[in-house]
Amino acid sequence: MASPSYSSPCYRESRSPPMRLGVLGVGELTESLLVALARGSQREGRSRTDLEFHLSPRNDVRSHRLGWRFGAVRHASNVAVCEASLCLLVGVRPDQLEPLASELREAQVLEADHHLMVTAAGVPLVDLQRWFAPARVVRVMTGLAVSEGQSALTLYPEDLLTRDLLGPAVKQIIAFEEEAAFEASMLAVCINAWQLAQQQALLDWFQTVPGMSGPQARQLLMAQLRDALALMEAHPDTPPGELASRIGTPGTWTARGLEQLGGGEGAHRQWQHVLEGLRSELDDTRPKNDR
Ligand SMILES: NC(=O)c1ccc[n+]([C@@H]2O[C@H](COP(=O)([O-])OP(=O)(O)OC[C@H]3O[C@@H](n4cnc5c(N)ncnc54)[C@H](OP(=O)(O)O)[C@@H]3O)[C@@H](O)[C@H]2O)c1
Repeated sequence: MASPSYSSPCYRESRSPPMRLGVLGVGELTESLLVALARGSQREGRSRTDLEFHLSPRNDVRSHRLGWRFGAVRHASNVAVCEASLCLLVGVRPDQLEPLASELREAQVLEADHHLMVTAAGVPLVDLQRWFAPARVVRVMTGLAVSEGQSALTLYPEDLLTRDLLGPAVKQIIAFEEEAAFEASMLAVCINAWQLAQQQALLDWFQTVPGMSGPQARQLLMAQLRDALALMEAHPDTPPGELASRIGTPGTWTARGLEQLGGGEGAHRQWQHVLEGLRSELDDTRPKNDR
Protein backbone atom coordinates (compact mmCIF):
# COMPACT_ATOMS: atom_id res chain seq x y z
CA MET A 1 0.00 0.00 0.00
CA ALA A 2 1.50 3.33 -1.03
CA SER A 3 1.76 6.17 1.47
CA PRO A 4 -0.51 9.10 0.65
CA SER A 5 1.17 11.67 -1.54
CA TYR A 6 2.49 14.80 0.10
CA SER A 7 -0.29 16.79 -1.56
CA SER A 8 -3.13 14.54 -0.29
CA PRO A 9 -5.70 16.19 2.01
CA CYS A 10 -4.92 14.00 5.04
CA TYR A 11 -1.21 14.72 4.69
CA ARG A 12 -1.88 18.45 4.36
CA GLU A 13 -4.23 18.33 7.35
CA SER A 14 -1.55 16.60 9.42
CA ARG A 15 1.09 19.19 8.51
CA SER A 16 -0.74 22.47 8.90
CA PRO A 17 -1.47 23.40 12.50
CA PRO A 18 -3.66 22.67 14.22
CA MET A 19 -3.03 18.98 13.47
CA ARG A 20 -6.40 17.31 13.99
CA LEU A 21 -6.53 13.74 15.23
CA GLY A 22 -9.84 11.95 15.62
CA VAL A 23 -10.23 9.09 18.08
CA LEU A 24 -12.81 6.35 17.64
CA GLY A 25 -12.87 4.46 20.95
CA VAL A 26 -11.41 6.47 23.81
CA GLY A 27 -10.04 3.57 25.83
CA GLU A 28 -7.05 2.91 28.05
CA LEU A 29 -4.57 2.57 25.22
CA THR A 30 -5.73 5.55 23.18
CA GLU A 31 -5.75 7.79 26.24
CA SER A 32 -2.14 6.77 27.00
CA LEU A 33 -1.16 7.43 23.40
CA LEU A 34 -2.80 10.86 23.38
CA VAL A 35 -1.01 11.81 26.61
CA ALA A 36 2.31 10.77 25.02
CA LEU A 37 1.51 12.63 21.81
CA ALA A 38 0.57 15.85 23.60
CA ARG A 39 3.71 15.74 25.74
CA GLY A 40 5.94 14.79 22.79
CA SER A 41 4.54 17.60 20.65
CA GLN A 42 5.21 20.08 23.42
CA ARG A 43 8.77 18.75 23.73
CA GLU A 44 9.21 19.42 20.02
CA GLY A 45 8.24 23.04 20.62
CA ARG A 46 4.66 22.94 19.33
CA SER A 47 2.08 24.85 21.31
CA ARG A 48 -0.94 23.23 22.88
CA THR A 49 -3.18 24.74 20.20
CA ASP A 50 -1.16 23.08 17.40
CA LEU A 51 -2.76 19.75 18.26
CA GLU A 52 -6.51 19.08 18.38
CA PHE A 53 -8.01 15.83 19.60
CA HIS A 54 -11.54 14.96 18.44
CA LEU A 55 -13.07 12.26 20.61
CA SER A 56 -15.86 9.76 20.04
CA PRO A 57 -18.75 9.54 22.55
CA ARG A 58 -18.81 7.05 25.52
CA ASN A 59 -16.09 6.93 28.17
CA ASP A 60 -17.13 10.17 29.92
CA VAL A 61 -14.41 10.05 32.54
CA ARG A 62 -11.55 9.67 30.06
CA SER A 63 -13.00 12.20 27.62
CA HIS A 64 -13.47 14.82 30.30
CA ARG A 65 -9.95 14.20 31.58
CA LEU A 66 -8.56 14.64 28.06
CA GLY A 67 -10.71 17.73 27.57
CA TRP A 68 -9.46 19.25 30.79
CA ARG A 69 -5.78 18.36 30.18
CA PHE A 70 -5.44 18.99 26.45
CA GLY A 71 -8.60 20.77 25.32
CA ALA A 72 -9.84 17.64 23.52
CA VAL A 73 -13.22 18.07 21.83
CA ARG A 74 -15.87 15.49 22.64
CA HIS A 75 -18.30 14.78 19.77
CA ALA A 76 -21.87 13.53 19.90
CA SER A 77 -21.25 10.72 17.40
CA ASN A 78 -18.55 8.73 15.64
CA VAL A 79 -19.74 10.22 12.37
CA ALA A 80 -19.05 13.73 13.70
CA VAL A 81 -15.50 12.65 14.60
CA CYS A 82 -14.90 11.46 11.03
CA GLU A 83 -16.28 14.75 9.72
CA ALA A 84 -13.97 16.72 12.01
CA SER A 85 -10.75 14.91 11.14
CA LEU A 86 -9.26 12.91 8.27
CA CYS A 87 -6.64 11.26 10.50
CA LEU A 88 -8.20 8.80 12.91
CA LEU A 89 -6.91 6.60 15.69
CA VAL A 90 -9.16 3.56 16.18
CA GLY A 91 -8.91 2.22 19.74
CA VAL A 92 -11.92 -0.07 20.12
CA ARG A 93 -11.45 -3.72 21.09
CA PRO A 94 -11.26 -6.32 18.30
CA ASP A 95 -14.89 -7.50 18.69
CA GLN A 96 -16.07 -3.87 18.60
CA LEU A 97 -14.46 -3.10 15.23
CA GLU A 98 -17.09 -4.55 12.94
CA PRO A 99 -20.07 -2.77 14.57
CA LEU A 100 -18.12 0.50 14.45
CA ALA A 101 -17.27 -0.04 10.78
CA SER A 102 -20.89 -0.79 9.84
CA GLU A 103 -22.07 2.34 11.66
CA LEU A 104 -19.63 4.43 9.59
CA ARG A 105 -20.50 2.57 6.39
CA GLU A 106 -24.22 3.19 6.85
CA ALA A 107 -23.52 6.90 7.32
CA GLN A 108 -21.23 6.85 4.23
CA VAL A 109 -18.88 9.15 6.08
CA LEU A 110 -15.53 7.56 5.28
CA GLU A 111 -13.68 8.76 2.19
CA ALA A 112 -10.49 7.69 0.48
CA ASP A 113 -8.77 10.64 2.16
CA HIS A 114 -9.42 9.28 5.66
CA HIS A 115 -6.40 7.68 7.26
CA LEU A 116 -7.16 5.10 9.99
CA MET A 117 -4.59 3.82 12.47
CA VAL A 118 -6.00 0.75 14.18
CA THR A 119 -4.63 -0.55 17.50
CA ALA A 120 -6.54 -3.84 17.66
CA ALA A 121 -4.52 -7.02 18.11
CA GLY A 122 -5.28 -10.13 16.05
CA VAL A 123 -7.37 -8.48 13.29
CA PRO A 124 -5.73 -8.77 9.85
CA LEU A 125 -5.24 -5.70 7.68
CA VAL A 126 -7.23 -7.25 4.85
CA ASP A 127 -10.35 -7.37 7.08
CA LEU A 128 -9.83 -3.83 8.33
CA GLN A 129 -9.45 -2.52 4.78
CA ARG A 130 -12.65 -4.25 3.74
CA TRP A 131 -14.63 -3.00 6.74
CA PHE A 132 -13.42 0.60 6.58
CA ALA A 133 -13.24 1.02 2.78
CA PRO A 134 -12.59 3.36 1.06
CA ALA A 135 -10.38 4.80 3.85
CA ARG A 136 -6.69 3.95 4.07
CA VAL A 137 -5.89 1.69 7.03
CA VAL A 138 -2.67 0.83 8.84
CA ARG A 139 -2.15 -1.17 12.02
CA VAL A 140 -0.25 0.23 15.00
CA MET A 141 0.70 -1.33 18.32
CA THR A 142 2.13 -0.07 21.57
CA GLY A 143 1.51 -0.58 25.31
CA LEU A 144 0.04 1.43 28.17
CA ALA A 145 3.54 2.52 29.24
CA VAL A 146 3.56 4.70 26.11
CA SER A 147 2.34 7.59 28.29
CA GLU A 148 5.84 7.73 29.83
CA GLY A 149 7.31 8.74 26.46
CA GLN A 150 9.92 5.96 26.23
CA SER A 151 8.02 3.37 24.20
CA ALA A 152 8.27 1.99 20.70
CA LEU A 153 5.30 1.90 18.38
CA THR A 154 5.10 -0.86 15.81
CA LEU A 155 3.54 -0.31 12.44
CA TYR A 156 2.23 -2.40 9.57
CA PRO A 157 2.73 -1.67 6.78
CA GLU A 158 5.35 1.08 6.61
CA ASP A 159 3.64 4.44 6.37
CA LEU A 160 5.18 7.92 6.39
CA LEU A 161 2.02 9.73 7.41
CA THR A 162 1.65 7.56 10.52
CA ARG A 163 5.30 8.19 11.35
CA ASP A 164 4.68 11.92 11.09
CA LEU A 165 1.49 11.82 13.12
CA LEU A 166 2.49 9.53 15.97
CA GLY A 167 6.28 9.95 15.94
CA PRO A 168 6.31 12.64 18.68
CA ALA A 169 4.55 10.21 21.06
CA VAL A 170 7.27 7.57 21.11
CA LYS A 171 11.02 6.99 21.13
CA GLN A 172 10.93 4.97 17.96
CA ILE A 173 8.63 3.56 15.33
CA ILE A 174 9.40 0.09 14.03
CA ALA A 175 7.66 -0.84 10.77
CA PHE A 176 7.27 -4.45 9.64
CA GLU A 177 7.06 -5.85 6.12
CA GLU A 178 5.32 -9.05 7.30
CA GLU A 179 2.02 -8.93 9.18
CA ALA A 180 2.90 -12.04 11.22
CA ALA A 181 5.98 -10.26 12.58
CA PHE A 182 3.88 -7.18 13.34
CA GLU A 183 1.34 -9.34 15.17
CA ALA A 184 4.14 -10.85 17.26
CA SER A 185 5.16 -7.31 18.26
CA MET A 186 2.08 -7.37 20.52
CA LEU A 187 3.89 -10.02 22.55
CA ALA A 188 6.86 -7.71 22.94
CA VAL A 189 4.42 -5.24 24.51
CA CYS A 190 3.32 -7.95 26.97
CA ILE A 191 6.93 -8.61 27.98
CA ASN A 192 6.92 -5.23 29.63
CA ALA A 193 4.41 -6.38 32.27
CA TRP A 194 6.10 -9.77 32.66
CA GLN A 195 9.38 -8.04 33.42
CA LEU A 196 7.71 -5.89 36.05
CA ALA A 197 6.22 -9.01 37.64
CA GLN A 198 9.66 -10.62 37.57
CA GLN A 199 11.11 -7.56 39.32
CA GLN A 200 8.44 -8.00 41.99
CA ALA A 201 9.52 -11.61 42.58
CA LEU A 202 13.15 -10.50 42.93
CA LEU A 203 12.20 -7.63 45.20
CA ASP A 204 10.20 -9.99 47.41
CA TRP A 205 13.21 -12.26 47.76
CA PHE A 206 15.64 -9.45 48.65
CA GLN A 207 13.23 -8.16 51.24
CA THR A 208 12.26 -11.44 52.89
CA VAL A 209 15.49 -13.47 52.79
CA PRO A 210 18.44 -11.10 53.36
CA GLY A 211 16.06 -8.53 54.91
CA MET A 212 16.66 -5.49 52.73
CA SER A 213 14.23 -2.62 53.02
CA GLY A 214 11.75 -2.21 50.18
CA PRO A 215 13.25 1.08 48.92
CA GLN A 216 16.81 -0.37 49.03
CA ALA A 217 15.81 -3.45 47.03
CA ARG A 218 13.86 -1.34 44.55
CA GLN A 219 16.78 1.05 44.00
CA LEU A 220 19.20 -1.84 43.47
CA LEU A 221 16.94 -3.57 40.97
CA MET A 222 16.28 -0.36 39.06
CA ALA A 223 20.04 0.28 38.87
CA GLN A 224 20.54 -3.21 37.41
CA LEU A 225 17.86 -2.61 34.79
CA ARG A 226 19.41 0.73 33.85
CA ASP A 227 22.84 -0.91 33.58
CA ALA A 228 21.54 -3.65 31.30
CA LEU A 229 19.84 -1.08 29.08
CA ALA A 230 22.93 1.13 29.03
CA LEU A 231 25.09 -1.81 27.93
CA MET A 232 22.67 -2.78 25.16
CA GLU A 233 22.55 0.81 23.94
CA ALA A 234 26.32 1.24 24.12
CA HIS A 235 26.94 -2.01 22.17
CA PRO A 236 24.17 -2.18 19.57
CA ASP A 237 26.02 -4.78 17.49
CA THR A 238 26.79 -7.16 20.35
CA PRO A 239 24.16 -9.80 21.19
CA PRO A 240 22.90 -9.32 24.76
CA GLY A 241 23.82 -12.94 25.54
CA GLU A 242 27.42 -12.13 24.71
CA LEU A 243 27.31 -9.07 26.98
CA ALA A 244 26.01 -11.35 29.75
CA SER A 245 28.86 -13.83 29.19
CA ARG A 246 31.41 -11.04 29.30
CA ILE A 247 30.14 -10.10 32.78
CA GLY A 248 29.75 -13.68 33.94
CA THR A 249 33.31 -14.86 33.32
CA PRO A 250 34.02 -18.49 34.31
CA GLY A 251 34.09 -19.15 38.02
CA THR A 252 32.09 -16.07 39.02
CA TRP A 253 28.77 -16.01 40.91
CA THR A 254 27.26 -14.40 37.82
CA ALA A 255 28.36 -17.35 35.68
CA ARG A 256 26.80 -19.85 38.08
CA GLY A 257 23.48 -18.01 37.92
CA LEU A 258 23.64 -17.83 34.12
CA GLU A 259 24.11 -21.60 33.97
CA GLN A 260 21.07 -22.24 36.15
CA LEU A 261 18.78 -19.79 34.38
CA GLY A 262 19.85 -20.90 30.89
CA GLY A 263 19.81 -24.44 29.56
CA GLY A 264 16.98 -26.84 28.66
CA GLU A 265 14.47 -26.17 31.43
CA GLY A 266 15.83 -22.84 32.68
CA ALA A 267 13.86 -19.62 33.05
CA HIS A 268 14.82 -18.31 29.59
CA ARG A 269 13.35 -21.36 27.91
CA GLN A 270 10.14 -20.90 29.95
CA TRP A 271 9.73 -17.37 28.61
CA GLN A 272 10.15 -18.72 25.07
CA HIS A 273 7.48 -21.37 25.81
CA VAL A 274 5.07 -18.69 26.93
CA LEU A 275 5.75 -16.64 23.78
CA GLU A 276 5.27 -19.70 21.57
CA GLY A 277 1.94 -20.58 23.22
CA LEU A 278 0.53 -17.05 22.97
CA ARG A 279 1.74 -16.63 19.39
CA SER A 280 -0.09 -19.74 18.26
CA GLU A 281 -3.26 -18.56 20.06
CA LEU A 282 -2.97 -15.21 18.28
CA ASP A 283 -2.43 -17.03 14.99
CA ASP A 284 -5.58 -19.13 15.57
CA THR A 285 -7.69 -15.96 15.62
CA ARG A 286 -6.70 -15.17 12.01
CA PRO A 287 -8.56 -16.55 9.00
CA LYS A 288 -6.71 -19.55 7.51
CA ASN A 289 -6.24 -17.94 4.10
CA ASP A 290 -4.48 -15.00 5.70
CA ARG A 291 -1.69 -16.91 7.46
N1 LIG B 1 -4.52 -2.13 26.85
C1 LIG B 1 -3.38 -2.57 26.36
O1 LIG B 1 -2.37 -2.71 27.06
C2 LIG B 1 -3.23 -2.86 24.90
C3 LIG B 1 -1.97 -3.16 24.41
C4 LIG B 1 -1.82 -3.42 23.05
C5 LIG B 1 -2.93 -3.40 22.24
N2 LIG B 1 -4.16 -3.15 22.72
C6 LIG B 1 -5.28 -3.12 21.78
O2 LIG B 1 -5.88 -1.84 21.86
C7 LIG B 1 -7.29 -1.96 21.71
C8 LIG B 1 -7.98 -1.21 22.81
O3 LIG B 1 -7.61 -1.77 24.07
P1 LIG B 1 -7.96 -0.99 25.41
O4 LIG B 1 -7.35 -1.75 26.53
O5 LIG B 1 -7.60 0.46 25.27
O6 LIG B 1 -9.55 -1.19 25.44
P2 LIG B 1 -10.64 -0.33 26.19
O7 LIG B 1 -10.08 0.41 27.35
O8 LIG B 1 -11.82 -1.21 26.41
O9 LIG B 1 -11.02 0.77 25.09
C9 LIG B 1 -11.92 0.59 24.04
C10 LIG B 1 -12.93 1.69 24.15
O10 LIG B 1 -13.64 1.81 22.91
C11 LIG B 1 -14.98 2.13 23.23
N3 LIG B 1 -15.86 1.77 22.12
C12 LIG B 1 -16.21 0.54 21.72
N4 LIG B 1 -17.02 0.58 20.65
C13 LIG B 1 -17.19 1.90 20.38
C14 LIG B 1 -17.94 2.58 19.40
N5 LIG B 1 -18.65 1.95 18.47
N6 LIG B 1 -17.89 3.92 19.41
C15 LIG B 1 -17.17 4.60 20.33
N7 LIG B 1 -16.45 4.00 21.29
C16 LIG B 1 -16.48 2.66 21.31
C17 LIG B 1 -15.28 1.33 24.46
O11 LIG B 1 -16.34 1.92 25.13
P3 LIG B 1 -17.22 1.04 26.16
O12 LIG B 1 -16.34 0.91 27.38
O13 LIG B 1 -18.42 1.87 26.37
O14 LIG B 1 -17.49 -0.26 25.47
C18 LIG B 1 -13.95 1.38 25.22
O15 LIG B 1 -13.93 2.40 26.16
C19 LIG B 1 -7.62 -3.44 21.73
O16 LIG B 1 -8.02 -3.77 20.44
C20 LIG B 1 -6.35 -4.14 22.11
O17 LIG B 1 -6.17 -5.28 21.28
C21 LIG B 1 -4.33 -2.85 24.04
